[in-house]
Amino acid sequence: MRITVFGAGYVGLVTAACLAELGNEVLCLERDPARIALLERGQLPIHEPGLAELVTANVGAGRLRFSSDADGGMAELQFIAVGTPPDEDGAADVEHVLQAARTIARRMAGFQVIVTKSTVPIGTAERVRAAVQQELDARGSGLSFAVVSNPEFLKEGAAVHDFMQPDRIVLGVEAGTAGRRAAALLTALYEPLNRHHPRTVWMDTRSAELTKYAANAMLATRISFINEMANLADLIGADIEAVRCGIGADQRIGYSFLYAGCGYGGSCFPKDLQALGRLASEAGQPLRLLRAVEAINNDQKLMLGQRILARFGDDLHGHVFAVWGLAFKPDTDDVRHASALVLIGQLLRANACVAVYDPVAHATARRALEQDRSLGPEALARLRYASDPMNALQGADALAIVTEWKQFRSPDWRQVKALLRQPVVFDGRNLFEPRLMAEAGIEHHSIGRPPRA
Ligand code: UGA
Repeated sequence: MRITVFGAGYVGLVTAACLAELGNEVLCLERDPARIALLERGQLPIHEPGLAELVTANVGAGRLRFSSDADGGMAELQFIAVGTPPDEDGAADVEHVLQAARTIARRMAGFQVIVTKSTVPIGTAERVRAAVQQELDARGSGLSFAVVSNPEFLKEGAAVHDFMQPDRIVLGVEAGTAGRRAAALLTALYEPLNRHHPRTVWMDTRSAELTKYAANAMLATRISFINEMANLADLIGADIEAVRCGIGADQRIGYSFLYAGCGYGGSCFPKDLQALGRLASEAGQPLRLLRAVEAINNDQKLMLGQRILARFGDDLHGHVFAVWGLAFKPDTDDVRHASALVLIGQLLRANACVAVYDPVAHATARRALEQDRSLGPEALARLRYASDPMNALQGADALAIVTEWKQFRSPDWRQVKALLRQPVVFDGRNLFEPRLMAEAGIEHHSIGRPPRA
């Protein structure tokens, strides 16, 4: 099939590359010519395992092209995967989505299916329909089209896998002939992903739009729930990992996405929870649970810093701390809303020196920290980007681990102890067994796991 994808951002790029890999002819539209040049050379603006190879292979095979010119985009299937950044109230701004819809309408020459992949507020499919209809009316055109909501559920760091082996494909279609025609096209498009195991869930467009927000809200709720239990476990001397295993055995609860830690970050959960909260309030039903989820997470991100201050004193002048991990999670260089940035800010503001290491996120973190108005040049001068994890430890009073990169999981503890001034580890992702840490002679602070003698 011939497909146009609007946007070569995270979702657009993954969608375009994966649909090309499935044998379709894909044109990915991107406004930024520098980004297009980069992509044509097989270089990605983001770090995502497996994606560069997929882009290179499909560009090479002629199935994937990048352009800034929508004229070439006459395909029957038009995917909109442009950004929906939060406005000042936290609501998702759909202006780019509507612009793409108008561009499609201006060039429409036959029946087209317009598929929204971006995460959008409830009712956006209807706004897309209205925007397209308005353009067609202005042209005096009676062409027919369908709008489909097809939210994306991929995780950063596992995006290609999640697209190719999705748990589900949610398709929200409109009633009527155009909707049925769209459903037939999308059934054919996604057939390779449904072959051994039917994964498509059909619904109306509003339900599809809400499904996306509800999924992220549920996941964030699980994290804040387990974090709150972990904080209680700390106070009463219980082990949150044992509790996770104990409750996860109940199939209704399950084990996954119940890892206590120093809070969730990323672009999706914080942004989507805000947007959902906003639209629920507008609909007359403020979401009290989600407000609590967000508040718990904000507090959780402060926890490592508070523990360090409690252990070393309020003024950390003369102290050095090593921080492993800057990205909001492993396998990405994304530092948006990352817990590490919160911790680094706390330490620098308390006059500490900080040495950080992340396998891929130094550049993105540097940019984000330089934009943090609470940190002046004097504070940033106390921040050092280390060349490797062990280098960050040299002369540090303690190590804080904020991102669970695989390479941090089994360090040589003898070397760690030799490099640190004091063998103190703040384990923000519960990577290490308290018992083994005690045996190694390390003062281990975890989230909801009591120290073991
Ligand atoms: C999230 C969802 O998981 C995807 O399904 C969704 O498509 C995506 O948002 C989106 O809306 O685009 P992502 O933001 O890439 O994906 O990251 P996650 O793997 O969900 O992790 C989010 C944060 O939660 C990370 O900071 C992670 O460390 C934290 N987390 C995750 C925990 O603290 N505990 C857990 O048990 C799991």
